[in-house]
Amino acid sequence: MAPASNARRITTNTLQAMKREGEKIAMLTAYDYSLARLVDGAGVDVILVGDSASNVMAGNETTVPITLEQMIYHASGVVRAAQRALVVVDLPFGTYQGDSRTALESSIRIMKESGAHAVKLEGGAEVGESVERILTAGIPVMGHLGLTPQSIYKFGTYTVRAREKDEAQKLLDDAKHLEQAGCFAIVLEKIPATLAKQVSALLSVPTIGIGAGPDCDGQVLVLHDMLGITQDFSPRFLRRYLNLEKDIQSAIAQYVSDIRDSEFPTEQESY
Ligand code: KIV
Repeated sequence: MAPASNARRITTNTLQAMKREGEKIAMLTAYDYSLARLVDGAGVDVILVGDSASNVMAGNETTVPITLEQMIYHASGVVRAAQRALVVVDLPFGTYQGDSRTALESSIRIMKESGAHAVKLEGGAEVGESVERILTAGIPVMGHLGLTPQSIYKFGTYTVRAREKDEAQKLLDDAKHLEQAGCFAIVLEKIPATLAKQVSALLSVPTIGIGAGPDCDGQVLVLHDMLGITQDFSPRFLRRYLNLEKDIQSAIAQYVSDIRDSEFPTEQESY
């Protein structure tokens, strides 16, 4: 039988089949058309239009300031590029925590105005009602547990979560709650690998890890971090596959020097 990931368009059902068949899921963020086209073409299964756009695209210190309109703008470009990947968009801070009706309205705007395929939200049992209400409109929902960057001001640090027994038990309960509410997958961010393994075995829906060890059903990284465009963020879990900061800077420095030395453009580059 062909692997589930050979599907022409990845759907939430494909991801669940991948988990059942033990096929790992590759997820990566993207925030614009040009890079999303490369991410999609390279075979990534899920493109997350993460609210990390607030950090890497807008230069904010946290994910808190990004707006629904800005997320829709980023997502629209990604959707135009994605031929195969499932496109999931983060519900930004303040657009779903108030009540489940607001969560539904925000999700409908994302789906209608960007053409995305699913939304993601942070939190456990407290967002269960919102997950259920969003699903009534036929919108698939991805959960996000562990380190939840939108709550940075509550926790005060970006350190590993759920190391203690009580917090680990709460995370297990929240994961079960999100699955029962109808989430099609759950991101586990920065938690001990042993706990992520337990959660992944407990759930029938896939877990996607970031800093959560090798036993999740899939992995996600922030595109700009793994390409080495950002350099000021180096957690242990981050594998840099390129050092684009260096390459981009030296290409641009060469361009500047070619102009200053009148070496660009040449006759061949002129009309
Ligand atoms: O916003 C984001 O990029 C995320 C990932 C880190 C999972 O939520």
